[in-house]
Amino acid sequence: MVRYPLMNTKTFSQEADFIKESAKIILEACKLPNAKIALSGGQTPEPILKELSHHVEKDNATFYQVDERYTEKTSPDSNQKMIRDSLNPKNFITFDTSLPIEEALSNYQNQLPNQFDLIVLGIGTDGHTASLFPNSPATEEESSPVAHTQTSEFTIPDRLTLTFPPILHSKKILVLLKGQNKIDAIEKFPASKLLKHQNLQVHFLV
Ligand code: 6PG
Repeated sequence: MVRYPLMNTKTFSQEADFIKESAKIILEACKLPNAKIALSGGQTPEPILKELSHHVEKDNATFYQVDERYTEKTSPDSNQKMIRDSLNPKNFITFDTSLPIEEALSNYQNQLPNQFDLIVLGIGTDGHTASLFPNSPATEEESSPVAHTQTSEFTIPDRLTLTFPPILHSKKILVLLKGQNKIDAIEKFPASKLLKHQNLQVHFLV
């Protein structure tokens, strides 16, 4: 993986170490006063959140969603279902997908903090992160902290997502990448926008 000056990358060959070290970073953030942490969905975070669920300090934090598929919160495709089932968060602020899209976005926006302590992101092989897809106009959004995006490439076409302003304003970003097919994912737009963040930690499981 190409190294960038601001990016702190750790490469793991053992999944157990990847899980342990990634959970440790999130746990450290949980110990901050009034910790505010935003979590992505997808597959990579699940075992890390399960590991984190064993640590009582997680209950000090308020968790938020980076993005959500516009589906029932009980759907197997729901990010909040994955997070609830794996982390069992005590304090969890979610997109309310039972509302119409615009109402769900404004309802969530009204609950956002001024700044996250940590945002945990994955990246797709196409370079999408959160639900900010390469062809999404929302990748260039400069004012609204949330957006509705759409995809025909991935499950559930309608998505609710944070935009880059709150992501890049976070005190710290942890990117979780699993598999050789992700080796250059962070160099692809729009994930490459993360490379200008001053406190970017990448964990890469080869
Ligand atoms: C989602 C995620 C998405 C994810 C990437 C990587 O809603 O699916 O928020 O942005 O982080 O697609 O997913 P994996 O971790 O499953 O590779």
